[in-house]
Amino acid sequence: MRRELSAMTSQPDHERLYIPGPVEVRREILDAQGQWMIGHRGKAFADLYGRLQPLLKESFGGGDQHRVYIYTSSGSGIWESASRCCVRDDQAALHLVNGAFSERWAGVTRENGKQVDAIEVPWGKAVRPEQVAEALSKKHYDMVAVVYCETSTGVLNPLPAIAEVVRQHPDTLLAVDVVSCWLGTEVEAAAWGLDIALTSSQKAFALPPGIAFGAVSDRVLERARQIPFRGYYFDVLTLEKHHEKNNTPATPPISLMFAAERQFRDIRAEGYAARYARHRRLAELTRAWAARQGFEMFSEEGYHSPTVSTIRNNRGIDFSAMQKFLAARGISLGGGYGKLKGETFRIAHMGDLQEAHLNELFAAMDAFLAQ
Ligand SMILES: Cc1ncc(COP(=O)(O)O)c(C=O)c1O
Repeated sequence: MRRELSAMTSQPDHERLYIPGPVEVRREILDAQGQWMIGHRGKAFADLYGRLQPLLKESFGGGDQHRVYIYTSSGSGIWESASRCCVRDDQAALHLVNGAFSERWAGVTRENGKQVDAIEVPWGKAVRPEQVAEALSKKHYDMVAVVYCETSTGVLNPLPAIAEVVRQHPDTLLAVDVVSCWLGTEVEAAAWGLDIALTSSQKAFALPPGIAFGAVSDRVLERARQIPFRGYYFDVLTLEKHHEKNNTPATPPISLMFAAERQFRDIRAEGYAARYARHRRLAELTRAWAARQGFEMFSEEGYHSPTVSTIRNNRGIDFSAMQKFLAARGISLGGGYGKLKGETFRIAHMGDLQEAHLNELFAAMDAFLAQ
């Protein structure tokens, strides 16, 4: 297994991605997509769907009350699924906003005609469970929406503690975006009581983009039955009807499902715990590199993400010059996102990335900074 993962090291024919999605995809995973096509209403497809289900459930820490839907979209599609299916017309959603993605999801809920209140926290800081407790003590919310790993700021919110607070309000559903940390850190949908955990494929799963997964609880289906207009493509009740037959309402991304099955085989061979420990180690190495070079972290101490590091450009380096320098050496690095552009840059250390790959990046950045 280790040999397979490290085979990613020398692929001189392309730029290696250190951006927070899409991430570098191994040749074996790209090749797994090349299997002969199968019809999605046939037995071979139902078998494939059926084989993926326990793997997906395990990866989300899902229990008997969860199933994992396969969405033919990127992760943003499941934002819409959650917002439309969890919030009744006369009720509101509480969004926890501390970065560009959590802000956008709040916008999506509003654009779907739902009432939204937000707890806004300065970017770079984590949302505190006490803030959520206070908001929930004042008003009923049909859904609390939180982004576990804010990819723009590199903050990992204290999700287990937030979930504990929300669970004290039995009619409030908890929808969680785990897009940029699922399979890079523990997600325990059953133990933490998550009603929706939603993700994309192109982050720590290290698949190409175009397929998304949502672990959805029975409670969401019960809520959806009380909401008359949920749309079609992202409606959980429509998805459920087909899920029961190991199928999807519309044509699924079959090639990506082949790749997903192959990737799960490798992930299980590495071991979930080992995979998460590797991500934490890569994050530590990145923070150590930043400190060595005199950079500060943008994310608050104690809440650094294990999958993406957002680094403050306190040295005032010409980041686009560094990006060009790195690109000439086959490396693609991510800048600051949204309003943090210029002020920060981001190093993604997720997926199948190994320490050796990070060291190559550090060496190249050191060479740029030594000029
Ligand atoms: C935390 C988070 N949520 C949602 C998204 C949107 O996901 P997608 O681009 O797969 O729709 C992203 C994309 O980077 C993200 O980082």
